[in-house]
Amino acid sequence: MKTKIFITTALLGLFINLSRAGEGMWLPLLLSQLNEKEMRDMGMKITAEDIYSVNHSSLKDAIVLFGGGCTGELVSTQGLLLTNHHCGYGNIQKHSSLEKDYLATGFWAQRMEEELPNPGLSVTFLVRMEEVTAQTLRGVSNSMSQKMRDSIVSANNKTIIKDAIKGTHYAAQVKPFFGGNQYYLFVTEVFTDVRLVGAPPSNIGKFGGDTDNWMWPRHTGDFSMFRIYANKDNKPAEYSKDNVPYKPAKHLTISLKGFKEGDFTFVYGFPGTTQEYLPSYAVDMTAFQDNPIAIGLRQQRLDIIDRAMENDRLTRIQYSAKAAGIANYWKKMIGETKGIKRLDAIEKKQSFESAFQKWADSNPETKAKYGQLLPAFSKYYSGYVPVNNAYTYLTEGLLGIEMVRFANSYTNLVKQCADKSKTEADIKKISEQLKASAVAFHKNYNPIVDKQLFDALMKSYITSCESSLQVPMVKETASSYKGNMQAWSNDLYKKSMFADSVRLLAFLSGFDRGDSRKIEKDPGYILAKSVYAYLFDDFAPIVNAFNATNDSLQRLYMAAQMEMQPEKRFYPDANSTLRVAYGNVKGYKPADAVGYNWFTTLDGIMEKENPEIYDYKVEPKLKELYNLRDYGRYADADKSMHVAFIASNHTTGGNSGSPVLNADGQLIGINFDRCWEGTMSDLMYDPDQCRNISLDIRYCLFIIDKMAGAKRLVDEMTVVE
Ligand code: ARG
Ligand code: ASP
Repeated sequence: MKTKIFITTALLGLFINLSRAGEGMWLPLLLSQLNEKEMRDMGMKITAEDIYSVNHSSLKDAIVLFGGGCTGELVSTQGLLLTNHHCGYGNIQKHSSLEKDYLATGFWAQRMEEELPNPGLSVTFLVRMEEVTAQTLRGVSNSMSQKMRDSIVSANNKTIIKDAIKGTHYAAQVKPFFGGNQYYLFVTEVFTDVRLVGAPPSNIGKFGGDTDNWMWPRHTGDFSMFRIYANKDNKPAEYSKDNVPYKPAKHLTISLKGFKEGDFTFVYGFPGTTQEYLPSYAVDMTAFQDNPIAIGLRQQRLDIIDRAMENDRLTRIQYSAKAAGIANYWKKMIGETKGIKRLDAIEKKQSFESAFQKWADSNPETKAKYGQLLPAFSKYYSGYVPVNNAYTYLTEGLLGIEMVRFANSYTNLVKQCADKSKTEADIKKISEQLKASAVAFHKNYNPIVDKQLFDALMKSYITSCESSLQVPMVKETASSYKGNMQAWSNDLYKKSMFADSVRLLAFLSGFDRGDSRKIEKDPGYILAKSVYAYLFDDFAPIVNAFNATNDSLQRLYMAAQMEMQPEKRFYPDANSTLRVAYGNVKGYKPADAVGYNWFTTLDGIMEKENPEIYDYKVEPKLKELYNLRDYGRYADADKSMHVAFIASNHTTGGNSGSPVLNADGQLIGINFDRCWEGTMSDLMYDPDQCRNISLDIRYCLFIIDKMAGAKRLVDEMTVVE
C-alpha cells in the first residue's frame, strides 16, 4: 500500500508542472483565483479586477471579437478599433477594384464621412460570463447515451440563455469547457455597423507575405483600423448614415515607452481552438494522416492560383484573399507536424498514458471508471482514421472547387420553386438575392482558374480517397470519362451556366418558376447537389456517430486527467471565448547554434528588400522615412524603429489582432502570428520554442502618423510617452 502511494505521488509530481509560465489561455473570470499571484510575481502591476470586472469598467470592455475569427481592441473614446491587416483583409479586398486597389495602395479615410461600411461584419463585446455547469447538467446522468445527454444539455442551455438576455438587446451563448465537464454562459453585445478607417498598403501590411508567414524574424506591419458606430443611445444598430461613433466603456492607453527582454506581457483576446488534452492516437492522426492529406491538396490549389496571380493583375485582386486563406493553414499544418515530431509529442503523450493506465488500475474505483478508456480510444481511432481521411479529401478536395460550392447555393431556389405554397413574389425575391450574390461571386471568380482546380483536385480525389467512401456520382462520372478529368471539365465548364456570369445573370433576370428545371439539368448543379447530398445524407451520420463516441470518451478522459492530477492548474482548451495568456518578452533558440533576438527593426525591412519579388517590395515612402531616420517619438531608446517582437504568450488562431499589454495594462503591441518552431502549440506547448509574434505599437503609430499622414487618428488615441 505504502509503495503504491509513493508511486502515485511521484507520478503526480512529474506531471503537475506541465503547465508552466507562458503556457495556458485562462478565463478572465478566474484570474484572481488561479493566476493573479503568479502574474504579479512575474511583474504585473495591475489587478485581476482591472482586467475583468462585472462591477465596473475594466480592460475587457475594450476588447472585441472581430468578425467571426479575430480580435480587435478599442483605442479611442470614438469607437476607433485596431486589428490586424490580415483580419481586415477580406473587407479591404471587397472595397478594391482595378481603379481603386486599396490592397495595393492602402486606404485612409480623411474624415469620418469617408469611412467605409462593411455589410456582414460585426464586432462582439463580452458583457459578462458565469459558470452554469449545474444548470446545464440538470437531469443528466453518466449512464445515459451521448445523444440523450446532448439533447438535455441543449434544452437546459436554451432556458439559461433565455433568462440571461430577457429584457435586453444582448445575445448569449453557453459553451462547454474541459470536454463538457464544465459550462459557462457568455452574455454579449453585438455591433453591426463597423466601418473601415484605414489600412496600410500590402507591401507594409502584408510585407513578407506567405513567404514569411508563421516565421520569425518578421517585418510585417500587420494592422488595419475600423470604427464601431452606434445609434444615438450608444446601442447597436444596423448601418445608417445617422449612426454615430460608439463610446466604449473603456479604451486602451498606448505606451510609447518601449520595453525590453524579460518584461511581463499579456495577450487579451479570443483564441479559437486548441486541443491540449487529447490521447496520443488523436495527435498521431492529426499530424501524420490528416495534415499530410490537407497539405497536399492545398499545395495543388496554391500552385494553380499563384501561377495565375503572377500573370495577371486582375486575377491577383480576385484571388489574393482566397490564396492567403489557403496558404495560411497549409503552412501552419506543415509547421505543426514538424513541431510534433521534434517535440516527440506522441512519445510524451504515450508515456503519460502508461502512467495514467497505472494510476487508473491502482484502485478498484478508478479502474472501473477509467481502466478501459485508453483501449477504447485505440479502437476508436483505428475505425475513425479512414473516415476522417475521406472527409478531408472531400472538404479540402472536392469543396476546393469553387463551382461546387457556388452551384450548391441554388438548391434553395429549386426547392422553393417546387413548393406550391410559394408565390411568384417569393420566388422573385430569392432569385434577386441570388443575382446579387452571383455578381459578388463572379467579381472574384475566373472559370479558367477554377477549371484547372477541378482537374487537379478531382484527380487526387479519385485516385487517393478510399473508394468505398467516395461520392458515388463523382466516382461514376469519372469512370464514364475513363478517368480523363480534362475531358470531364471541358464539358462541364462549357455547359454549366455557373461558370459564365453573363449567361447566369441573364438567366436570373428573366427567372420564373418553370426555369427551375434548367437549373436541375445544369451539370454544375448536378455535381454540386450530388456532392452535398452525399456529404449531408450519407457521410455526416457516420461522422456524427464517431463524434458522439469521441465526445463521451474525451469527456471522461478529461475528467480522469483532472482527477489524477488534483494539484495541477488546468486551463481549458480555446473555444473562441475571451482569454488571457501571459508570459515574458523573450527570444529563443530555434536550432543548434542559432539564437533569435526578441525584436526586429526597419533595417531588417531594407535588408529583405527585393523589387523583383512581390512579397519583398518596399513602399517608396517608407524608404524615404528610413533614409531620413525620421521616426519622431516612435523610435526606440536605441534610436532604431522597432517593427515586431516575440514573447512567450500562449496564443492561437483567433488571437490575431489581440492587444499585447504591459505590466500596467497599456497597449504595446498587436498580436498577429506565432513562430515556426512553435506552431504545434495547439496540440502541445513547448516553453522553449513557442513564441507569439506581435507588431510593435510604435511602428503601427509611425505608419499611421508619418507614412499615411493620418494624424487625426493618432490624436484620438490616449498615448503615454
Ligand atoms: N499566420 C497568421 C495567422 O494565422 C497570419 C496569416 C495571414 N497572412 C498570410 N500571409 N496569409 O492568421
Ligand atoms: N495568425 C493567427 C490568427 O489569425 C494567430 C495564430 O495562429 O497565432 O489568429
